Amino acid sequence: MGDIYVPNAFSNIDAHPHPVRLVNALYRLRSEPFFASYKQRLRELLQARPGQRFLDIGAGTGDAVRELADETGAEVVACDLSQTMCAEMKHAGVPRVAVADCHRLPFKDATFDGAWADRVLQHVEEPDRALDEMLRVVRPGGRIVVCDPDTSTQALNIADHLLAAKVLGLRQTSSIRHGTFARRVPGLLTARGLLDVEVEPRTLLVRDKRTVDGTMGIRDWADVFADRGYLDRAEARRFNALLDDAIEGGQFLYSVTYFLTSATMPTDRR
Ligand SMILES: C[S@@+](CC[C@H](N)C(=O)[O-])C[C@H]1O[C@@H](n2cnc3c(N)ncnc32)[C@H](O)[C@@H]1O
Repeated sequence: MGDIYVPNAFSNIDAHPHPVRLVNALYRLRSEPFFASYKQRLRELLQARPGQRFLDIGAGTGDAVRELADETGAEVVACDLSQTMCAEMKHAGVPRVAVADCHRLPFKDATFDGAWADRVLQHVEEPDRALDEMLRVVRPGGRIVVCDPDTSTQALNIADHLLAAKVLGLRQTSSIRHGTFARRVPGLLTARGLLDVEVEPRTLLVRDKRTVDGTMGIRDWADVFADRGYLDRAEARRFNALLDDAIEGGQFLYSVTYFLTSATMPTDRR
């Protein structure tokens, strides 16, 4: 049953019963066209040049670290709270990897020409503090990019819309620590005096069986909530049956919008 996407799985990967499955889940997501596309845009928004230094906060498997370094000639440092993820990055040849909590980055002020956090701040204990920490380590004029989905933008089509809304509500309140932080990021950066604050919405759309089964954990949502007592077993069974019906009948649709926010550090701030 659903033992990958347990609530808050990505907040503390090393405490997960099967951390390697989370590593594999990240690799699978990475290969999906939606993720490949917004991640490419994220790298463009960093405006990296050869010889500059960038920081990937919560780098996961480190794919973006390698890609940005290969594409631009910039030096890219990876950090992640998880020992499992850091070991995976080292194994995959990422040269500079630090086990670090993004609330307390082990870098001096203004060390980097830019930093990014991709699907990380939604999972951390204090995202506002983590954002401030990110700004601290980037030099004046440097680049910041933050990307997260906003769980309140979710839509799900199965035959029982009330049950769909209940499960989506649980995903908002019980799956991810700060599922709506993404919408606050542009305002937080503006309030901190950052320049060129821009937001690009990207909507993930899932309609086919392969994606339902393989990438989003959708198949496991109801069972995971039932395991934790948030949903009746009967409701979980009904959800799963309606999910199958919707997929088989070509009726299934799930979507959620990601906000990709970019900005430039002010030059007169420090
Ligand atoms: C959903 S994964 C995203 C990984 C990667 N950024 C990507 O786009 O594939 C979230 C990552 O954030 C890391 N993470 C969670 N809390 C963290 C924290 N407090 N400090 C640093 N990393 C953290 C997790 O260990 C995990 O690798």
